[in-house]
Amino acid sequence: MFVLRPESAADGPAVESLLDLCFGPNRHAKASYRFRGGVPPVTSLSFVAEEEGTDLVGAIRYWPIRLGAASALLLGPLAIRPDRQGRGIGRVLVFRTLADALALGHRLVFLVGDPAYYRRFGFEVAPRTIVMPGEQPWRLQYALLGDGRLLEAGGTLRPERPLERPEGADVALDQGIRYNQPVGA
Ligand SMILES: CC(C)(COP(=O)(O)OP(=O)(O)OC[C@H]1O[C@@H](n2cnc3c(N)ncnc32)[C@H](O)[C@@H]1OP(=O)(O)O)[C@@H](O)C(=O)NCCC(=O)NCCS
Repeated sequence: MFVLRPESAADGPAVESLLDLCFGPNRHAKASYRFRGGVPPVTSLSFVAEEEGTDLVGAIRYWPIRLGAASALLLGPLAIRPDRQGRGIGRVLVFRTLADALALGHRLVFLVGDPAYYRRFGFEVAPRTIVMPGEQPWRLQYALLGDGRLLEAGGTLRPERPLERPEGADVALDQGIRYNQPVGA
């Protein structure tokens, strides 16, 4: 039995330990981490899975990125503690946060991962014209939410730098639906 709840600042060390456990301490060398340096995650979409109110067994985060003029999200990291994998925790975290992302107005999500896992959530391999430097093209995937469309035929994904945000952009990124109660899985 596990519950989902928004990640809090106090969860930081436990989430970092979980990510080290799942991806190894060299995870920061991955190309996708360049999109995370110096930019905070989208707090309203950062969730953890907790078992019986004690151990943290899963975590998901999203980051703001851009494809040309279009705002998008970068899903990840997503990590489930190895001894709790295969129990649907990853599935619940992804479905729940994608639904929240849609409700918050997001329409385009990218990730770098295994297509065989992410297909079930509506992700497909991105067109070769869309590039994340340093990542293998077959692992770069995208999903359109709601009435989302790929407005750019191609281009290089780049991080959303705080200084580049147009005035008011924070509203879409950070105005979260606040969950006061843990949500049963
Ligand atoms: C990948 C991961 C997030 C999946 O979470 P999970 O809670 O274990 O997965 P779920 O219980 O929701 O789903 C299990 C299903 O996913 C499948 N699956 C798990 N990892 C997979 C992978 N890498 N490729 C394809 N399918 C995968 C399982 O075979 C199972 O399939 P089934 O539903 O047909 O039986 C988790 O295993 C994990 O943290 N792995 C290590 C870190 C990682 O690779 N993160 C993702 C990179 S972006």
